[in-house]
Parts: sequence; structure tokens; C-alpha cells
Amino acid sequence: MPSKLTVALALGLLAGIATAYIALSVPDPSAPQITATAGKPAIGGPFSLINTAGQRRTEKDFAGKPMLVFFGFTNCPDVCPSGLQTLTVALNELGDKANQISTLFITLDPDRDTADTLSQYVKSFHPNIQGLTGTPDEIQSAIKAYRVYAVKVPDEKDPKRYNIDHSSFFYLMNANGEYTKHFPHSTDAHVLAKALAAAL
Ligand code: NI
Repeated sequence: MPSKLTVALALGLLAGIATAYIALSVPDPSAPQITATAGKPAIGGPFSLINTAGQRRTEKDFAGKPMLVFFGFTNCPDVCPSGLQTLTVALNELGDKANQISTLFITLDPDRDTADTLSQYVKSFHPNIQGLTGTPDEIQSAIKAYRVYAVKVPDEKDPKRYNIDHSSFFYLMNANGEYTKHFPHSTDAHVLAKALAAAL
């Protein structure tokens, strides 16, 4: 039979583990808001958008291949260009295998990012990156589905101009369109390339 001291020590140890666990569970404010539903994070889902050729595209059009989804806007001063540059390096590293993954850049700025603007922009990075836009409502639904944070911030010097503060993660979805993992836009291109190759 355990002595009172042993029980006390064991309880103390458990309390310590619990405290450490709680400390580790403090959410990282920079991480996307992930809510688990029946064991699967609720990121992704149906969307209906317009590609740069003016064709309607839904998640069903991309089924059967892993998908990397990135949200941003063409006027973004630094975050989107650096993220897309990283993605370009990763896709180049994959070579021909880059065709086996759908790479989507969904605009957060449907008012300014027309199919044409978006087309020029994504082409300047990598030919495999597909730009998607839509009506403000359609974009809002996609933003909601992927739990993206995006807020318009008016330019102090010129109220007609605005920036968009936004979270910027690459969301890796499997061939069934289910969330697998995400990477910050600042991720290392080789790490991203390896993860994409492993997803094929
Ligand atoms: Ni951006």
C-alpha cells in the first residue's frame, strides 16, 4: 500500500504535469484559429470563386490532387510577395511534380483584384499558381471557411486608399480537400517543398 508521502508526491507530480500542459496549451495569437470538430480541424470546405480565365471554380474542381491555399492581395506591400516568392522557390524545387498539386492564391481584395490584375500578378511568380477572385460575398465565404483574418485599413494620408491586414498561412489540403497542415508565409522554401513532395 502506498504511503501518504508517496501519494502526496504522486499528486504533486500530476499537478506539475497539468500545469506544464496548461502552459503549453496557451494559444499562439499568430496561429490560425483552429477549432477541432470530431477530431478534424475545421479549416477549408466549399468555395465558389472565379479563376483568372473568368471560369467558376469550386473545391470540387480541385478534388483528386493535394491543394495549397494562400490568401492575399496584389497590392500587398510585403507579406504576400515574400510568401509567393517562397512558394515559387518551393514549386521550382518540385520541378515537374509541381503539376501534381493545385496551388491557389485567393484574393482578399475582390474590389481591386480583377481576374486580369490577378492573372498578371500570379504569373509573375510561378505558372502553376492559380489566382481566384469572386464577388465580395464569395470571397467572404472562402475567408470564413479557411478562418483567415483580414481587415481593411484605410490609408491615413489618402482615405481613398487602403491596405489589408491579414493572416498569411499556406494551407495544405489533401486530395479530398481536407486540411492537413499549415505553414507561415515566412516558412523556409525547402521545408515547404519537402512537405509538398511528401503530400503527393
Ligand atoms: Ni499580403
